[in-house]
Amino acid sequence: MAKIKKINHVAVVVGDVDEALKFWQDAMGIQLHHLEDVPSQKAQVAFLPVGESEVELVKPTSDDSGVAKFLAERGGGMHHLCFEVDDIAGMMAQLKEKGVRLLSEEPQVLPGRKMVFIHPKSTGGVLVELYEVTK
Ligand code: CO
Repeated sequence: MAKIKKINHVAVVVGDVDEALKFWQDAMGIQLHHLEDVPSQKAQVAFLPVGESEVELVKPTSDDSGVAKFLAERGGGMHHLCFEVDDIAGMMAQLKEKGVRLLSEEPQVLPGRKMVFIHPKSTGGVLVELYEVTK
């Protein structure tokens, strides 16, 4: 049976990274590790490690992504929670067996990880991401 290892990250959508860092870094004291452009997600991401997990501040870099829509509609805020699993294919099969809806049939393969989202309709409204770290 596939296992959850930890919370990998919590993603927060922001309209302005510098502005967001005033709270997360300056007030909370969580140090920015690095900023990264993630073209596949049409976003710029600020990574702020907290223990074995991270807060990710996600700023859309185009108008036509889900994250951009989320920002326009809600003005930003908590976007998703990501769990790291030891076996993403096994976890996906396990979830499907329980009637849980996934946003794609196959995990997306990215450098260093495989990932999939669980439909918020199956989670009580929380967008949940699953990661399997591949190296
Ligand atoms: Co994520």
